Amino acid sequence: MSKLWGGRFRKGTDPLVEEFHSSLSFDRRLYRYDIQGSIAHVRMLGHAKIITPKEAETLVAGLRAVLADLDAGRVEFSPREDEDIHSLVERLLVDRVGEVGKKLHTARSRNDQVALDVRMYLKDEIMIIRGLLDDLQRTLLDLAERHTDTLLPGYTHLQRAQPVSLAHHLLAYVEMFHRDAERLSDCYRRTDVMPLGAGALAGTVFPIDREIVARELGFAAVTENSLDAVADRDFAVEFCAAAALIMVHLSRFCEELVLWSTAEFGFVELDDAFATGSSMMPQKKNPDMAELIRGKSGRVFGDLQALLTMLKGLPLAYNKDMQEDKEALFDAVDTVKKCLLVFTGMVRTLRFREAAMDQAARGGFTNATDLADYLAGRGVSFREAHEIVGRVVLYALEHGKNLEEITLDEYRRFSEAVREDVYAAIRVENCLAARKARGGPAPATVRAAIARARARLRQTQKNTTCSTY
Ligand code: ARG
Repeated sequence: MSKLWGGRFRKGTDPLVEEFHSSLSFDRRLYRYDIQGSIAHVRMLGHAKIITPKEAETLVAGLRAVLADLDAGRVEFSPREDEDIHSLVERLLVDRVGEVGKKLHTARSRNDQVALDVRMYLKDEIMIIRGLLDDLQRTLLDLAERHTDTLLPGYTHLQRAQPVSLAHHLLAYVEMFHRDAERLSDCYRRTDVMPLGAGALAGTVFPIDREIVARELGFAAVTENSLDAVADRDFAVEFCAAAALIMVHLSRFCEELVLWSTAEFGFVELDDAFATGSSMMPQKKNPDMAELIRGKSGRVFGDLQALLTMLKGLPLAYNKDMQEDKEALFDAVDTVKKCLLVFTGMVRTLRFREAAMDQAARGGFTNATDLADYLAGRGVSFREAHEIVGRVVLYALEHGKNLEEITLDEYRRFSEAVREDVYAAIRVENCLAARKARGGPAPATVRAAIARARARLRQTQKNTTCSTY
């Protein structure tokens, strides 16, 4: 194959090396960005009179034709032929427009070019993922709206603790996914910086205009330092870190769905369209999608780790190690997108077994804290009230009763402070309704929280420029 750098070499590259160092098999997905970037670069070259207007025109037309060929699938990809997507596009351009095509790379290096391509790609993907996170939040809010009064036991240590509502539980995840969206927006700001003009590492002697290029490509700013511009992959690391947290949140929810869909919990039934069966056991309905998403979280953590490790020992500026950024980044993008899509579909179609949740919320002494709070409200110190209720619970367990079933006489054997109004205080619905400070599970409080979360979503949507996917 003809190389972009053949001049200095006396003999060809070993075939093993050609295959080993080619990135074409994976960076081909960047071709649209690569060509868009080249078109902006060429226009600027013409504008700055580094090439003639006629040459610029020819190059732009040629690049457009190459793009059309690639879009139509008319190009064969051969990693032995082309080292990477940048080499491929340049070769196709020269094939089309002849000698003038060789002016494309004036005042540019593949080092600033690849940094540009990856940033353009990631900006688009971040917007898509932000849209998917919005969809998921909206789905959760729709469900929450219907379940502000659906009781659910809240757990600590996976032991029943205090009653909450299904809506309150779902809203906990809305908060997580909202923070994820914010993290992505933040990462977007640092991705939205245009590196072209950094050249290989030390800029260029040509009188380029970087601002025109940034404007044409929709970047908010240009990079400040040429060495940093070609050596920086922080934005990719930040994205993978944000993606890893999205996966953590999805995975925790998936773990709950796996538990909740067991016969032992029986809180949810997965829709047939989002569950699978067993080849041997005819009765099985398995939560494979939830398990797969939980499992795939590991890939994304790995992608983050790969990027951090790849970068940590690199001297400035570009090193070929950095070619390894792409597969990890692409994998994180692909995985998080697919998982969000599947997860949203799975949650949207869940059937909640409200009776089972209700029964679980009422059993297991989830109102014991409220009984202690009742005593504390009647002048008993909380520490003593805690001790008394502990003994009541022991007594109730021995007699196979729950707290509502203990008679007033029995209660008064434990504490003189107990009166008839204790039954209202420990009614589970009342326990829920009493927790009405902002952030609490009282139905009215949760309804207000849902309204705020919806307003927040509308606001972020107004602020995001594109959401096409
Ligand atoms: N394929 C390379 C990458 O992904 C493009 C930059 C190559 N630059 C170089 N000096 N070898 O990093």
